[in-house]
Amino acid sequence: MRRRPDGGTPRAVTDLPPSSAPPSDAAGLPARAAALDLLTAALSGRAGMDEGLSHPALAALPARDRAFARALVLATLRHLGPIDAALQGRLKKPPPDRVVQVLRLGVAQLFLLQTPPHAAVGTSVDLVARDRGSQMFKGLVNAVLRGLSREPPALDDPDLLAPGWLHARWRAAFGADEARKIAAMIAQEPATDLSFKDPARAEALAAELEGQVLSGGTLRSARRGDVATWPGFAEGDWWVQDASAAIPARLLAVQAGETALDLCAAPGGKTLQLAAAGAAVTALDRSAPRLKRVAENLARTGLSADTVAADGATWPDKRSFDAILLDAPCSATGTFRRHPDVLWAAKPSDVAGLAAVQAKLLDAAAKRLKSGGRLVYCVCSLEPEEGEGQTAALLARTAGLALDPVAAGEGGAPAAGVRPDGTLRILPHHLEGGTDGFYVARFRKG
Ligand SMILES: C[S@@+](CC[C@H](N)C(=O)[O-])C[C@H]1O[C@@H](n2cnc3c(N)ncnc32)[C@H](O)[C@@H]1O
Repeated sequence: MRRRPDGGTPRAVTDLPPSSAPPSDAAGLPARAAALDLLTAALSGRAGMDEGLSHPALAALPARDRAFARALVLATLRHLGPIDAALQGRLKKPPPDRVVQVLRLGVAQLFLLQTPPHAAVGTSVDLVARDRGSQMFKGLVNAVLRGLSREPPALDDPDLLAPGWLHARWRAAFGADEARKIAAMIAQEPATDLSFKDPARAEALAAELEGQVLSGGTLRSARRGDVATWPGFAEGDWWVQDASAAIPARLLAVQAGETALDLCAAPGGKTLQLAAAGAAVTALDRSAPRLKRVAENLARTGLSADTVAADGATWPDKRSFDAILLDAPCSATGTFRRHPDVLWAAKPSDVAGLAAVQAKLLDAAAKRLKSGGRLVYCVCSLEPEEGEGQTAALLARTAGLALDPVAAGEGGAPAAGVRPDGTLRILPHHLEGGTDGFYVARFRKG
């Protein structure tokens, strides 16, 4: 199982280059070859999109080609189900994997990036011609893409956008209507959400950042491109964090001087929120390399926290805390808007394995709470075993722990996501323009 992509990642780039027009035909083949590598790695589960972006083939490209490759792969992954359905209608038997990936990228260029057909088809044929094992499929690639270019397929059917097993799970958990609404969000490109160290700065920078301040304080920016060049980044005013991902730390409502433990902290979006609220924060994560990113983000924003590399389930430290945040490792199916690869790399068996890890971390967190202390458990998953199931089991086995219900609007919680027991089940369509799917529960120790 790959590690989940970050719920609150201060990432450096957004999806599309400032201009998403494809590069010239002459410059296009290396960009498409890099896209092929990236798509293949993402779908094989070897690397997520973010890890894949540091692939040498991609890193060596000029910025504009790199941005094109990234935009092409994201567009392909966001429409993979309908693209495959369109291809299946034209293939008598499945060609080798590399040819399939080239065809997928070709369809995305034709209908999603509006690449001129001669460029989309020509470069796709060139890509298969480059490889001895797939050379013989040049004619097939040419015929399939030319055929499709004459009869454009529909690429946004919600019944096809998610893998069948996940769509069936969402139908069982939320009903057929909600499952279709969730799936429809897969095709949509997300805006960039920013969390501010000082809420007053969000208002002050809103116009420059082409943004709108949402309930809860997140600024949703319509800008694109490298966020490191945006106003306020160098000054450490804000970090990139999805609107839903910013809600759990707000619900802890830490006060200056309180002790707070972020038990799965990296890369640090929620640690930054807790530190900005004035708590004395311990940011723990099992991964030392990922903790480095927490330290970098703290340094950029001028905030402070103690960082600890340890397993949160077995950390031998004896301290207890006023407030604990457990943003647990999960299948991350709620993050498909920014990381559409998770949908296609996830397997049914991942959910059970990660649910077991979450149960151990929840027990460890509950034990470290002071009397009267608050625990917020959250996951960016849409799967009930990683949300409702964990809450019910934790309450059943932990004396003295009770749910502390969340009210609609608290911390930016969308009313549609508030359950009768006061937990949150935020679905991607619960916020206008979309948001990551999250489950959030707040507990208090008696
Ligand atoms: C969902 S991410 C955390 C995102 C982070 N809270 C943020 O807002 O930026 C989950 C993190 O849990 C960490 N992790 C996984 N298992 C762990 C364990 N047993 N103990 C501590 N950290 C763990 C992973 O390394 C990963 O960084």
